[in-house]
Amino acid sequence: MSTGSSADRPADPPSPGGSLELSTVRLVAGGDALARTEDGQVVLVEGALPNERILATVTEVRARLIRAQLVEVITPAPERVDPTCPEVERGCGGCDFALAAAAAQPELKAEVVRDALRRIARLDDLPVDPGVSLAATGYRTTVRAAVRAAHAGFRSRRSHEVVVVGGCEVAHPSAAELLVDGVYDGVEEVVIRVGARTGERMVVAHPSAAGVSVPDDVRVVGTDELRRGRRAWIHEEVDGHRFRVSAESFFQACPDGAEALVDAVRRALGGPAEDAELIDLYGGVGLFSVALGTAAPVLVERSASAVADARVNLVGRSARLFKMAVRRWRPTPADLVVADPARAGLGSDGVSAVTGTAASRVALVSCDPASLARDTAALVGVGYRPVGVELVDLFPQTHHIEAVTTFELLEPIRRAAAV
Ligand SMILES: C[S@@+](CC[C@H](N)C(=O)[O-])C[C@H]1O[C@@H](n2cnc3c(N)ncnc32)[C@H](O)[C@@H]1O
Repeated sequence: MSTGSSADRPADPPSPGGSLELSTVRLVAGGDALARTEDGQVVLVEGALPNERILATVTEVRARLIRAQLVEVITPAPERVDPTCPEVERGCGGCDFALAAAAAQPELKAEVVRDALRRIARLDDLPVDPGVSLAATGYRTTVRAAVRAAHAGFRSRRSHEVVVVGGCEVAHPSAAELLVDGVYDGVEEVVIRVGARTGERMVVAHPSAAGVSVPDDVRVVGTDELRRGRRAWIHEEVDGHRFRVSAESFFQACPDGAEALVDAVRRALGGPAEDAELIDLYGGVGLFSVALGTAAPVLVERSASAVADARVNLVGRSARLFKMAVRRWRPTPADLVVADPARAGLGSDGVSAVTGTAASRVALVSCDPASLARDTAALVGVGYRPVGVELVDLFPQTHHIEAVTTFELLEPIRRAAAV
């Protein structure tokens, strides 16, 4: 018979504002650490690392998921460090992974990818290589910032408030200078873009650049002017190649990272691609087509701005550029495909485009572990064998992941596609 003591009563269900003491198990996509309550409910804790004993405050309760925020670390993970950047202490949410030692971050990210592959693609033993370490500070050549009272900063970890920063450890120094010293009157959001190897700088201000005050060398453009057709660009160098990058075109976070990514793609494609029939899906300004040295690449990209840049960057090659969504492109046979979609991944349209080429090797570049796992499962479903994943840590100090997965076409499908 129950004594009715509090020890026998079931614990109150977690509710927002309540506290939980938890043991974290692993990181999940997005950078939170997963833990379970005593009765098995999943809790995703912001600010925690795997293998920690922590105290957290519940921020959200859903049917199958509780979200919580770290309040106190009772037993830290071996990887935990005090962030070196003072702005983290002030609440800046730009570097949500600065709580882990830089040297430990690639392996922590590799574990997130392994977990996504296990859970989503049911692949337990695909090798995932954490990759080489890249500079963890002063690397970012594109910085997107919010503006408060004419000064740039980043969203707070805890709210949507803008934390105006007095420095930024991860920004390239010439971008950090514009972040800190620039005056952005009447601006809501600013994108600062610099060429680390050319010294060129650009500021894109939203909604208008009328109130921007930065040094004279900086090209300044408003999104209102871009809408009216004005063009503005800088140049960057990667692997000895010069790239034009316009205000509205995508470019990788830093030139060293872009080189590491090209190297990983080259390995995935199995060697030199100069004479190969190469399809560059989601090709942007032509990074892979240019840097892989392909004589006659086919590039598919829907952004008009990126295609205009690619046309300049690929001058002298027999490139064929398709300014259209991958969904609308009619695949042509190829030896090799590099596909570098946005966060949502290939989806069924991208998978159909890849399959339609019957390429013997595919390098899939993914920036989201869940879409990587979904795309891998879909490519396996149409006859591709995943060989391995190599991470390229393009965004040290943040939870962002970049990964290159190698696929080989299985023989029966290749024959079927060739018929
Ligand atoms: C992650 S970026 C990669 C660009 C390039 N591969 C690079 O490394 O610089 C993805 C690119 O895909 C383009 N894109 C996004 N969705 C697309 C679609 N459905 N069809 C074609 N291009 C798309 C974007 O405009 C962007 O340039």
